[in-house]
Formats: sequence, structure tokens, C-alpha cells
Amino acid sequence: MSQIFSSTQFGRLQLPNRAVMAPMTRTRASSEGLQTPLAATYYAQRAGAGLIVSEAISVSRQGHGYPATPGLWTDAQQQSWAPVFDAVHRAGGRIAAQLFHTGRSGHSSVFGEIVAPSPIAIKTGESRDVNFQSVPFETPRELATHEIPGIALDFAAAARRAIDAGADAIEIHAANSYLIDEFLRSGTNRRTDAYGRDRTRFLREVVEAVAKEIGADRTGVRFSPMSPWNDMSDENPQETFRRAAEAIRGVAFMHLVEAGGANAITPVLSQAFGGPVIVNGGYDFARAEAALAAGAAAVAFGVPYLANPDLLERFRRNAPLNTPDASTFYGGGERGYTDYPALERVA
Ligand SMILES: Cc1cc2nc3c(=O)[nH]c(=O)nc-3n(C[C@H](O)[C@H](O)[C@H](O)COP(=O)(O)O)c2cc1C
Repeated sequence: MSQIFSSTQFGRLQLPNRAVMAPMTRTRASSEGLQTPLAATYYAQRAGAGLIVSEAISVSRQGHGYPATPGLWTDAQQQSWAPVFDAVHRAGGRIAAQLFHTGRSGHSSVFGEIVAPSPIAIKTGESRDVNFQSVPFETPRELATHEIPGIALDFAAAARRAIDAGADAIEIHAANSYLIDEFLRSGTNRRTDAYGRDRTRFLREVVEAVAKEIGADRTGVRFSPMSPWNDMSDENPQETFRRAAEAIRGVAFMHLVEAGGANAITPVLSQAFGGPVIVNGGYDFARAEAALAAGAAAVAFGVPYLANPDLLERFRRNAPLNTPDASTFYGGGERGYTDYPALERVA
């Protein structure tokens, strides 16, 4: 019996099935970080997912290092999200807003300054400036100890704005090389203060601030323990993320990106967390069923959901999937965004 179609509960969230739409930045927002009306169509088309996790949303101007991505630190940004959340609800879905601070991975031309736990630049690959030109990554300014608690409060304020705009939950983005991940991993955190002696401290402060503001039962956290992207590294990923998983005990869900072979440590982190775990990274229907049978609470699909608004229905009917067009993943308009056909219009 297939498990992906069975219901489950994460904190106060009731999920009618165990397929999650993974968060995906689509770089179609305005230069002021406003979400577009087209995003309401895009997300509503994918409302058959048990839970949608939105594209990453910056919690502050300082944390807004990517061009054409949305924010949640102004009233106008908050208002721009309300029709998106409403459209998902009207289509029968649920959506968590993914919140991040780009840390050293952004570019200063977008907002003015690049900050990180330690002044270590990314050497592999290139950054994108405000005009989408490829430029070298910059050396970040090391955050002063006294600045850090305020960034945790920025996450809480953005979480409040997301909930007030109608989001069902928040996902704290502690994955993929952004600020929280930079604090967690030893390759990017060389601090000797309290935030370096305990690399989970900033994560804990963010989770506590967000949970106090909106409730732990609608707060989730995403980690990518072994992803090497943007020069991320750790001397002992299993121990670092076991401690991180323990630090977030009590939140509604933990979301694990299994890039870099992290699936090998998923059971250890799941045990340390003790709550529902979403796994992600290269899953298809068969692998998803195996992961659910092995104890995952849900499976998140990124590119498959991007290209198949009705992914779950296709799984149900064993129907073929649309081919994703990588040239339209980032930037542009409707093409490659809201025009992937649903099943009825195929064949
Ligand atoms: C276009 C694109 C944008 C992405 N943006 C985000 C993001 O904003 N936040 C995030 O946590 N992961 C992001 N990811 C990673 C995905 O959530 C997911 O981990 C990855 O695509 C692997 O899952 P998949 O094999 O099911 O696609 C992005 C991936 C893609 C393809």
C-alpha cells in the first residue's frame, strides 16, 4: 500500500498527504523584494502537495543578498505575499514561508553589505550582482557579537509578518550555505566568542525567537548537513548536525537535504530530533515510498514539482512527468513558471 497518499500531522499542521513541494527560489520578484501576482498562480497550481515550502524570503535588508528575490521586512512586502497565501488556501493547500539571511552567499550591490560569522570568502563559483552579472564572491565582514541577537529577532519579525499575511507555518532556512548554516559549520565559523564555542547557539536563538513569536508547532527547520555547495564544509558533519537536530527538538518538523551523501546520517539526525522528518534530494516515487517505509514522515520534491504542478496526481496515475527547462528556473515570467501543463492537458 502506497504511503505517500496517507495523511499526517506536523505540529498544528494537518497534511492530507506526504508529498512536500521543496523551497525553490525563482528570482522573479521586484527589486524591492515584492512578490508578484503571478506567484499566486504558480503556488496555487501546486496546492495538491501536502505542504508547499515557499522560495527563500529574506528577513531583513541586510540579509537580502540575491537580486529579484522576495523579502518580508516591509509592510509592502507583507502585503505582496497575502494574495499568494490566500490563493494556495483557496486551492485547498497549505504553505510554509521559508525565511533566510543570505550571509556571505549574497552580493553587496543588492543591498550594501556582506556579513558572516567569519571573514572567509567563497572561492568556488561566482556570485550574481544586482544586474545578474557574474562577479567574484566578496569577503564578508565578521559580525560583532552584539549584532547577532538582533538578527534572530529579524527572523521572528519576518515570521510574524508571514503569519499575519496568511502563511500556515515558517521554515527556518538553516541549509545551503546561508547565514545560519555558516554559523553551524566549522569551515565558515572560526569565532572564539560564545557563537563559535557553541556553533548551534545562533540557530537556537533564531528558533527560540521564532517559536516565541508564532509557536514551535508551526515552525520547521531545514538543514543540508553534507552539501558542499558554496564552499561549505565541516570537520564532523554527523556530530555538528546531531547537535543541531537536538537543539531544535520540539519544532513541528525537520527538513533534511540529503546532498553529498547526507542520507547516511539521516537516521542519526532523525533520532536526535525525535519529531517528523522531511527528506529531500533526487527523490522519485519509488525512492519516496522506500524512504517513507524507512520512517521519513514526508518527502520533498524540488525540480519534479517545479515542472509538474500536479505531481501527486501523476504519481497516483503512474503518468509520465514533464521535462524541466533549466533555462527558466531563475528569472523571466510565465514561461517555465506557470505554463507547465497539468495532466488533463497532456496527451
Ligand atoms: C531552481 C531552484 C531553486 C532553489 N531554491 C531553494 C531555496 O530557495 N531554498 C532552499 O532551501 N532550497 C532551494 N533549492 C533546493 C531544493 O529545495 C532541493 O533541495 C533540490 O532541488 C533537490 O531536490 P530535488 O532533487 O527534488 O529537486 C532550489 C533548487 C532549485 C532547482
